[in-house]
Amino acid sequence: MNDRFGIVVACDLNRGIGKNNQLPWRLSADLKYFKQITSTTTEPKKYNAVIMGRKTWESIPPQHRPLPNRYNIVLTRNPNYPVPQGVFRFASLDETFEKLQEGPIEQVFIIGGAEIYNQAIQHERIGFLHLTEIRHRYDCDTFFPDYKQFFQLISSSEIQSENGIEFCFKVYKPNLLG
Ligand SMILES: NC(=O)c1ccc[n+]([C@@H]2O[C@H](COP(=O)([O-])OP(=O)(O)OC[C@H]3O[C@@H](n4cnc5c(N)ncnc54)[C@H](OP(=O)(O)O)[C@@H]3O)[C@@H](O)[C@H]2O)c1
Repeated sequence: MNDRFGIVVACDLNRGIGKNNQLPWRLSADLKYFKQITSTTTEPKKYNAVIMGRKTWESIPPQHRPLPNRYNIVLTRNPNYPVPQGVFRFASLDETFEKLQEGPIEQVFIIGGAEIYNQAIQHERIGFLHLTEIRHRYDCDTFFPDYKQFFQLISSSEIQSENGIEFCFKVYKPNLLG
């Protein structure tokens, strides 16, 4: 377990996270929260990294990628997959963790999607999980894995609301007894 490595996700009450390679909802407060936790560093000269699967990368509108002020890492098994200058492409999660273990990067966030979450959820390096709980049930085709047996709740924000949708921000740590 390592406090530098964590997972960030927003999921609904069915653990749904996506539909047709898009987010099923639009919550500006969650996008703001995501930007804040993945961008903030304690040392101003340092940057964090975000690791995402190739499909999640493609789900980000071209004008919004790479995500600014963060090292963007795209996982793909295709060695010829084109990524823009300044974006890193890796062929496995372990290789990525190994490369990021040392060096100037402050924190490393796994930002989806389901395929990557499934591989990361029980990974020994993961030290935290930031989960936005959206208190609604959407029509989804992609789901976050069943995480509760592996994590314990550390904190939860008050319930907030945007356009009638209620949500809260939760932080979990790996459950060492699990
Ligand atoms: N709600 C949220 O917080 C949230 C966050 C992120 C994404 N999403 C949603 O999740 C959905 C996308 O998730 P997804 O599961 O379909 O796709 P994904 O996890 O984003 O990407 C899957 C791709 O990643 C690559 N990959 C997976 N494991 C790998 C490994 N070990 N090594 C190297 N490459 C690997 C493969 O790319 P190649 O096929 O190129 O080899 C695979 O096809 C979208 O709907 C998106 O909007 C939601």
